[in-house]
Amino acid sequence: MQPLQEKATVTDVAKYKIAILPGDGIGRDVMDAARIVLRRLRLDAEYLEGDIGWEFWRSEGDPLPQRTLRMLEQTDVCLMGAITSKPNYEAQLELDPRLRGGGYEYYSPIVRLRQEFNLHTNIRPCKSYRGNPLNYREGIDIVVFRENTEGLYSGVEFHPLPQELKAWLLEHHQKMRRFESTPADEIAVSMRIMTKKACNKILTGAFEYARKRNYRTVTVVEKPNILRETGGLMLREAREVAKRYPEIRLQEKNIDAVCMWLLKNPLEYSVLVAENLFGDIVSDLCAQLIGGLGFAPSGNIGDDYAVFEPVHGSAPKYAGQYRANPLAMILSVMMMLEYLGEYSLARDVEKAVADVIAEGKVRTYDMGGSSSTLEMANAVADKISTQSKKA
Ligand code: NAI
Ligand code: MG
Repeated sequence: MQPLQEKATVTDVAKYKIAILPGDGIGRDVMDAARIVLRRLRLDAEYLEGDIGWEFWRSEGDPLPQRTLRMLEQTDVCLMGAITSKPNYEAQLELDPRLRGGGYEYYSPIVRLRQEFNLHTNIRPCKSYRGNPLNYREGIDIVVFRENTEGLYSGVEFHPLPQELKAWLLEHHQKMRRFESTPADEIAVSMRIMTKKACNKILTGAFEYARKRNYRTVTVVEKPNILRETGGLMLREAREVAKRYPEIRLQEKNIDAVCMWLLKNPLEYSVLVAENLFGDIVSDLCAQLIGGLGFAPSGNIGDDYAVFEPVHGSAPKYAGQYRANPLAMILSVMMMLEYLGEYSLARDVEKAVADVIAEGKVRTYDMGGSSSTLEMANAVADKISTQSKKA
């Protein structure tokens, strides 16, 4: 692959500094596709490539080295491919023998990125582009707002259950009595931590998005009849926030029921907003409605930084084969352009993607075709060039 551009010199300062983290497996393949599109857009940007992923865990004991974090701090925004992630006990087996016993612990670098930069809002648009043979139905246009930092993924878990905690729970909650005789090592506890502040942030983000883009409903996905305190907090906050947006209707749905309704009537939904785990679940379902992981982009957005990445992972069995569908990655580039305020370029990218899908000449394996990752990227880039000639 050619470098994206020559390094900017002191006299040639680019408008944006963009971090590029290809990562592992097909993350690298689809990042090469993104480079083709970025090069064609001629965005006034300097690109800084960084290390992240499995090989850095193996060789250095850190899949997200400090130098990468420092590099990200100097950039406006980050584009990421995908990384391979494994449970800590498996990770330990693959660590360079020279590092073993050195106290290295494996943590998912994505989760760390979200926490380090407080990327509280995960946006996952799911749109069925006309002519995609994988569409569940035409006309689907759903955007999931997933809270990205707390909820059931807060990571506060206990096993075995500490004696003091158990004693406190027994004293303060009658529902705990059922577990009184369960031995400590036979009970595991996860805390679903939700704050008013984070609920407010994700809800406000969802309503603002709906207002700007003329969506008429926001659906809050919860389970407040069972998860009374955490779910209740989210719901009360939703009703409060909704008052500031009288033109938008707030719908309240339970997570289980909404999975059924999304399959039955997907056209009745637009913006969905949910806590971390529920958002994760419902966004995979929505991704499948519009053709699967090859079409699902995402943005992890904080107050002053953002990381854009396809929803899919590193799909090791296709690594380096250039067979993966790059459209999820290319649509993530589109979202990054919107974040940077480059709306016209973002529209060009989306139109190019829509046109390539509608024409149906270039299709990757998941769409029943045999085009490669880079052929698809080139087809999108060519559409961008044609559009700019017409304009
Ligand atoms: P995955 O998303 O990597 O792949 C699952 C399957 O979906 C693939 O085998 C393939 O059939 C299909 N697929 C995924 N992306 C595709 C694309 N662009 N085009 C065509 N087909 C595509 O999920 P999996 O297999 O569960 O995880 C593999 C690794 O990725 C794991 O180590 C996991 O932890 C990691 N992962 C990383 C994520 C990230 O970087 N944000 C997100 C999800 C998983
Ligand atoms: Mg997921």
